[in-house]
Amino acid sequence: MPPDPTATATATAREIVAGLCAAQASIAPKYFYDTAGSALFEQITQLPEYYLTRTERAIMATHADALALRIGPGATVIEAGAGNCEKARTLCATIRPRCFVGVDIAAAFLQQAVAGLRREFPSLDVRSVVADLLDEIVLPADLPSGRRLVFYPGSSIGNFAPEAALGLLQRLRRLTDADGALLIGVDLVKSKAILEAAYDDAAGVTAAFNLNVLRHINRLLTADFDLAHWRHRSFFNEEQSRIEMHLEARCATQVSWPTGCRNFRRAERIHTENSYKYRVADFAGLLRRAGFGRHVCWTDAQQWFAVFLAEP
Ligand code: AVJ
Repeated sequence: MPPDPTATATATAREIVAGLCAAQASIAPKYFYDTAGSALFEQITQLPEYYLTRTERAIMATHADALALRIGPGATVIEAGAGNCEKARTLCATIRPRCFVGVDIAAAFLQQAVAGLRREFPSLDVRSVVADLLDEIVLPADLPSGRRLVFYPGSSIGNFAPEAALGLLQRLRRLTDADGALLIGVDLVKSKAILEAAYDDAAGVTAAFNLNVLRHINRLLTADFDLAHWRHRSFFNEEQSRIEMHLEARCATQVSWPTGCRNFRRAERIHTENSYKYRVADFAGLLRRAGFGRHVCWTDAQQWFAVFLAEP
């Protein structure tokens, strides 16, 4: 049975309202990714300051042969947070899987992306699953029996606090069979200046991405956030080893929705995202705790980003 759409809408609304009404207001980062937000994120990945995507791509290109050798052809690739399937394209060309399963929360964007992948790889069995990675991920029952490679690129794991990241890694571990593997990209701790520039670019794309979440919330909740009343804020919290993104009220302002409202003082903030940065040894420890007994770790020359290939 598919979930009741009104029930889902209500649960979503309740979750959003709870975040907005908390003493420290917050909006979960998954709400960044409406169609406009997904397109803005794609622009972010091309910014000169946003080193993550291109560094990961370079690491994967350098180790493509090693990866293809380790995985072998005919595998089933399961990508968590597939987005535009850009990375899937390169990965599929490298390891020649039999089946690709894209998992993402942004349904429309995902459908479009997997359709593109089907056109490009006509013999590839392409599937899509719309899911929140915080829930248990239910795969189609009729997947081919090949070796499974779970792919979680882009340091998306960084959105989760270490203990929640461990839970997600355990769920991803359950998606790999006994002989499967996890290929995961992780952003590493580096100088504050480089980290902060990546989340506050000169062209203002990250600011637009952050502010767009209010437009999405307006639609989901029939709320009335005035985007002109809010500004983008981001900084590296060294103690927690994370970039924090917030929206800060430029003036005293109010937001209302059909069942309530909240007032914000000038300079009050809504916390919209955490992006955790790891040291290689610490992430390796998380992998071990999640049940991955072996791994290889590939990094770039500057040690800005790491790609782990982990096996149970
Ligand atoms: C998609 C979570 C990996 O944390 O770098 C980019 C999201 N936010 N710029 C990140 C993001 C602001 C991104 N992740």
